[in-house]
Formats: sequence, structure tokens, C-alpha cells
Amino acid sequence: MKALILSGGKGTRLRPLTYTGAKQLVPVANKPILWYGIEAIAKAGITDIGIIISPETGEEIKTVTGNGENFGAQITYILQSEPLGLAHAVKTAADFLQTSPFVMYLGDNLIQDDLEQFLDHFQAKSLDSLILLRRVPNPSAFGVATVDDQGKVLALVEKPEHPPSNLALVGLYFFAPTIHQAIANIEPSARGELEITDAIQYLISHGYGVESLQLEGWWLDTGKKDDLLAANQIILDSLVEKNIQGTVDEQSKISGRVTIGPHSQIINSVIRGPVAIGSNCHLENCFIGPYSSIADGVKIRDADLEHSVVLQGASIVAIQQRIVDSVIGKNAKIFPAPCRPQALRFLIGNDSQVELIGPSSYPQD
Ligand code: DAU
Repeated sequence: MKALILSGGKGTRLRPLTYTGAKQLVPVANKPILWYGIEAIAKAGITDIGIIISPETGEEIKTVTGNGENFGAQITYILQSEPLGLAHAVKTAADFLQTSPFVMYLGDNLIQDDLEQFLDHFQAKSLDSLILLRRVPNPSAFGVATVDDQGKVLALVEKPEHPPSNLALVGLYFFAPTIHQAIANIEPSARGELEITDAIQYLISHGYGVESLQLEGWWLDTGKKDDLLAANQIILDSLVEKNIQGTVDEQSKISGRVTIGPHSQIINSVIRGPVAIGSNCHLENCFIGPYSSIADGVKIRDADLEHSVVLQGASIVAIQQRIVDSVIGKNAKIFPAPCRPQALRFLIGNDSQVELIGPSSYPQD
């Protein structure tokens, strides 16, 4: 059994964070999303892992993730020159996959359930494909399945305008090598992609064994800001315990499950967990509220922040209002005018969002 993780593509939905960086490396509780998938695969005993990368972000993924040693696995990187679809990615990985069955994991998905139970089902029933489904309120944003009472998949359709059910395809699939034959027989969709949904539909239409199971736990497709904040909240909730490696001065108060990385300094601040703080951070005169993740090298002074994700090297200094529900990009700077502002002055990249919340919509403390 091998694994194929798809970490190519274009991260258009999480722009501007992903203009230059890979969306699969956006951190959740200070750990790249992609790593959760690698860990889950290795935990299921699958150690031969191929990762699809794109020319734009592949080098960064390789550098950050390495050869798999840290995960007890062996990683082979496979370059997909253009994001021509999930099935195209499988085609690109043909030399790596050979005739092995494999689990395919979308590198921007976070899935709570262990893989073992699904792997057992796939192997015990000698299926050609096992797919995972979850009921969602917005099925049009996903691949959508119609299934019978036994979980037998009757039909699949990718991002339908009029969804036949609310059962979305989760980014975790199990395939026998027959999938290659199916992919060889499909054409690109209207959006120009070779869809894995169409390849599975081919298997169904030609009488191959395709079944589905429904996910019990949570699943997050972390393509958008609110998904990212939700994923951060759920992962921080499962933080096991307090782990403080940096220094905390006597004026500071740390409560709840808080992790603080090495060489971080906390000065005269209140931190109320669950919160994850990376290494080499400087936090002074601030309040960090629940469900916040602060990456390495962040500076926060004279500011309040909660339910937010702050990426590497960002700095937030002397902001009067509390910062909530925010994602702040790498090396971004938020700082005030020297006196009461007469005007606001911005240098903001394409697709950024700045929301100045008025009194009526300001969240209650
Ligand atoms: O998240 C679940 C959904 O994922 C399913 O419900 C859909 O049926 C499935 O098509 C997929 O839809 P998305 O629109 O979310 O796929 P996205 O383009 O975001 O790509 C998913 C991952 O695969 C992401 O890590 C990028 C990578 N990828 C994508 C394409 C199109 C590649 O590596 N190569 C590609 O060519």
C-alpha cells in the first residue's frame, strides 16, 4: 500500500496568503496542514509516500517537509507541471504508484478520523475504490455523491449547481490500480481538469466495486479564512497540555492549555488558552485570548488578540482595539499612528481584506 498526497495546485481561495506560499503549508496550531496528513498516513502504517508538488511552491514544500525521516516515512516528490486536475495528478504519479493500491489524500484537508478503519474496510472487501463522505450545508462547493442504503455509490458529480444530495466527497480516497484504467478513459471537465470524480464514476458505471463510508469526526477543507480559523480552533482544543519552554516574567499570567516555544519571551501579558505560541516570539503588554496561534518570530506589543492566526515574523504593535477572527500573514506589520489617527494609511496586497468593525457589530467582551 502506498500513499499519494496532492500538494500541487493553485491556492486561489486563501489568497493573499498563498500568492507566494503553498496553501498546504499554512499552519494550523503552528503546524503545516500538510503534516497532519503525513502523520495520519504514517500512523496507519503506510510509509511509502509520494507528494505531488507544483513548480511554484514545490521547493518550499520539499524544504519544510524533508525526506520523511521525521515522520518515520519515505517521501518521494513528484512534480506536476500544471494543476490539470486530481486525476491528472494520479496520472503524473504513475511511475511512483506502479501497480500498488494507494490512499490519496488532499494536502489541504484536515481529517480527524484515523485512517486505519477505512484502510481495513478497503482491503477486507477488495474494493476498487473506497470514498469518504460527509454531510455538508453547501454541497455545491464539493464533489457530491448519491448512495443507496448500504453505502453503495450510485453516482458522483463534481461541484454541481443543483446537488442531488448533501453528501460531499472528503479529500481522502482509497484506490486499487484499476483507477489508472478509469483515468485513461475520461476527458477533461468543463473547467478543463481531469476530475477524479469522473474517474470514480467510470468505475461505478463499468461495474467495479466502489463503496463509501461516512466520516464520524470533523473534516475541514481549509481553503478559506473561516475554515482555517475553525481548523485552528479544533486542533487547539485537542492540545493535550501546557508546555512552556520560553520565559514568562512574574507580571504575566498564563492560564489553560498554552504552549510556548523555545526562546520566546512573555512580558507583562495575559495568555488564556488554548493558545499555541512558537519560538523566538516577543509578547509584551498584551492579552492573547483563546484559540490563537502565533507562529515563530512574531512580535506583539500593547495589543489584544483572540481567535486569530498570526504567521511567522508578523508584528502587531500598539493597537487599541481587540483583534479578533483574523489571519495575519507572514512578516505583516500592524502599527498605529503616533497620535490619534486623522487618516488610515495602508499598504495592502491584492485580495487582502481589512474590516473596521463598528460598535453595533463589535463582538461583546
Ligand atoms: O476537499 C474536498 C474536495 O476536494 C472534493 O469534494 C472534490 O470532489 C475534489 O475535487 C476537491 O475539490 P477542490 O476544489 O477542493 O480541490 P482543489 O483544487 O482545492 O485541490 C485539492 C488538493 O489537490 C490541493 O491540495 C491542491 C491539490 N491539487 C489540485 C489540483 C487541481 C494538485 O496537487 N494538483 C491539481 O492538479
